[in-house]
Amino acid sequence: MPADKPLLRVLNGETLTPPPVWLMRQAGRYLTEYRQTRLKARSFLDLCYTPKLAADVTLQPIRRFHFDAAIIFSDILVVPDAFGQKVDFESGEGPRLAPIAGAQELKALRETIDLDHLAPVFEAIGLVKAALPKATALIGFCGAPWTVASYMIAGRGTPDQAPARLFAYREPELFAALMERLIDGSVAYLSRQIEAGVDCVQIFDTWAGALAPAEFARWCLMPVKRIIAAVRLRHPQTKVIAFPRGAGLALTTYAAETGADALGLDTSVDPAAANALIPEGVVLQGNLDPLALVAGGAALREASGKILSAFRQRPHIFNLGHGIVPETPLDNVEALLALLRGEA
Ligand code: CP3
Repeated sequence: MPADKPLLRVLNGETLTPPPVWLMRQAGRYLTEYRQTRLKARSFLDLCYTPKLAADVTLQPIRRFHFDAAIIFSDILVVPDAFGQKVDFESGEGPRLAPIAGAQELKALRETIDLDHLAPVFEAIGLVKAALPKATALIGFCGAPWTVASYMIAGRGTPDQAPARLFAYREPELFAALMERLIDGSVAYLSRQIEAGVDCVQIFDTWAGALAPAEFARWCLMPVKRIIAAVRLRHPQTKVIAFPRGAGLALTTYAAETGADALGLDTSVDPAAANALIPEGVVLQGNLDPLALVAGGAALREASGKILSAFRQRPHIFNLGHGIVPETPLDNVEALLALLRGEA
């Protein structure tokens, strides 16, 4: 029964002490076993598209740390790949895509997402599902359209997402057309993940904070609202966590209008303020500074203590405010879990 999983109980409105915990990017380079498995795949995308390896990597942090949730190992950039855009990951350098400069490149993309291309992800979900402990939830995910579009247009990570912001200002109709495809593609992709067995989903809007208010409303809030409504129509029981990183003052409007069941808070958000401002019906997830986890010791104790006490009275999922970084000592993850579980 899904209701036996602490993460799902909290997403359904229960307050649990200690709160369930998982960490964004929990499968990754800080784990020695991940680095080992990574060597078996020719490329990062090969790792994502080899069900046995992807399932194994998904399970690695669960075996080691017994987190309350696993997140299926993949990447937000498999979506542009499934729209026919060329995507590569250069080791140590991050993603490289053939940039979308205008109408011509947009026209060359598929109209709809190729879910067959993503079949290995759904297969990996089945493998993980069969191997997970009963109390461990499985999270599916996609990138939010704005964040995915920012990589599709720039062709790489950028400090300020300037190429996509300029594209949206200069070519609003073309940009809207790209966003429409990504909205529909995200709905189809999340729905298939749910049908393959994930218990809930998270939408990562890593670059939400780069947009001015009107553009945030149009390109972050509205698309995510539409994705949530459409996924909910098909899968009314499935909870949706939205992570609009850097949304700042727009968080409360975002929480009210997107209809997300839970909100991921980034590192910059004061937990006590979020607790006071965000309606009780919205579950909060977060938001330890990933560098407090690298530092460990007093910094880790103080930061996690503040988060626990701010959210003591409401449904809360403990997590980081952004992804775990490769330099994170494994001992500090153990220490965090001991703190949360009252063993330290
Ligand atoms: O454990 C998990 O969280 C599941 C897997 C996961 C990955 N990426 C694996 C990954 C998830 C949920 C993501 C999401 C993702 N990918 C986001 C949104 C969340 C965030 O952290 O902001 C974004 C923006 C991406 C795009 C992406 N993927 C970038 C910019 C990079 C290069 C930078 C980096 O961290 O290396 C990636 C590569 C990537 N995705 C790695 C992993 C484990 C490292 C690749 C390697 O092993 O060489």
